[in-house]
Amino acid sequence: MREKVFITGGSGLLAINWALAIRNRFTVSLGLYDRPISLAGIEAQYISLESVNDLSSFFNIILPQVVIHTAGLTSIEACEAKPDLARQVNVELSANVAKVCYNDGLKLVHISTDHLFSGTASLLDETAQTSPINVYGRTKAEAELRVLEEYPEALVVRTNFYGWGPSYRQSFSDTIIEHLRSGNEVNLFKDVFYTPILAQTLANVVHELINNRARGIYNVVGDERISKYEFGLKIAKQFKLDTNLIKPISMTDKLNLVKRPLDMSLSNNKVSHFLGRKLGGIDEHVFELYKQEQLGVAHEIQKL
Ligand SMILES: NC(=O)c1ccc[n+]([C@@H]2O[C@H](COP(=O)([O-])OP(=O)(O)OC[C@H]3O[C@@H](n4cnc5c(N)ncnc54)[C@H](OP(=O)(O)O)[C@@H]3O)[C@@H](O)[C@H]2O)c1
Repeated sequence: MREKVFITGGSGLLAINWALAIRNRFTVSLGLYDRPISLAGIEAQYISLESVNDLSSFFNIILPQVVIHTAGLTSIEACEAKPDLARQVNVELSANVAKVCYNDGLKLVHISTDHLFSGTASLLDETAQTSPINVYGRTKAEAELRVLEEYPEALVVRTNFYGWGPSYRQSFSDTIIEHLRSGNEVNLFKDVFYTPILAQTLANVVHELINNRARGIYNVVGDERISKYEFGLKIAKQFKLDTNLIKPISMTDKLNLVKRPLDMSLSNNKVSHFLGRKLGGIDEHVFELYKQEQLGVAHEIQKL
C-alpha cells in the first residue's frame, strides 16, 4: 500500500510542484485554506490549521503517514505590514501542525527558508546562529524553534526553490521567462545571492531524507551560489531567450523595499554528506525546468 502524504498550503507554489513530483509514488492529499485546487490524481480538502483538535480529527479520517507543512504567509511586504498575522500563520500554525503530528506519531517536514540571516556571510551551514532582519525572517526563525520544541524528531528544511507556478502565483523563474518571451526587459539584482533548487528536486531529496530517518535542521538547496542576475542569464540561455533584455540592478538602490538579506546562500554539505551525493548545480536544475515544460508539467500547473 502507498504511503499517504498530506501537504499543507496546498494551493501554494511549493505544494503544487511537490504534489506533481511525487504523485506516481504516493497518495497525495493537499490541505486547502482559501483557494480551491484540482489536479489529476491528487486529493484536496479544506482544513483549518487553527485548531489542534480539528486537525487531529481530520488526520484520523484521512490517515496520512507523512505531513509536509508548506503553508505560510510568504510575502515579505505582507509580513512587515501585518506582523501579528505573520506570527499567527508562520509560527502558531506551524506549532499546531507539529503538536498534532507528534501526538499522532506522523512524520513531519517543516518547510523553512534561507531568509534567516543578516545576509553578510556566504554558504552558512545549519549551525550558524540565526539573525533575521525582517518580520518574515523572524517569524520563520521562531517557527523552527517552536516546531522542534513540539516535535524534536521533526525534519526542518531550509531552502529556496523555483518551479512552474499557477496563474495566480508566479515563481521567480516564471517572471523571468514571461518577461523575456514578451520581449520586455527584466531587472534582476546583481548583488543578491542565493543557492536555489528546483522544487521537484527539493521534494525528491526530502523524501530520501525521510526514508533515511533524518531529523532536525537540513539545508536543502542547490550546489551553487549565484546572483539573481546570473540566474536570470542562465534561464534565458536554457530557454533560448534574449539575454540582452536582462538588466543588472542593485538592491542598495531599492530604498523603498522592506530590508532583505543580500546573501542568502546556504551550504548543502550536511545533506550531501548524509545522502552521499551532490544535489545538482544551476545548469542541471534549469535544464530539468525546461524539460518539465516539454513534458506538459508547466501547462498542467499554469492552467490552475
Ligand atoms: N517561494 C520561495 O521562494 C520560498 C523560499 C524559501 C522558503 N519558502 C517557504 O516555503 C513554503 C512554501 O512557500 P510557497 O512559495 O509555496 O508559498 P505560497 O505560494 O505563498 O503559498 C502559501 C500557501 O499557504 C496558504 N496559507 C496562507 N495563509 C494560511 C492560513 N492562515 N492557514 C492555512 N494556510 C494558509 C495559502 O493558501 P491560499 O492560497 O488559500 O491563501 C497557500 O496555499 C513557505 O513556508 C515559505 O516560507 C518559500
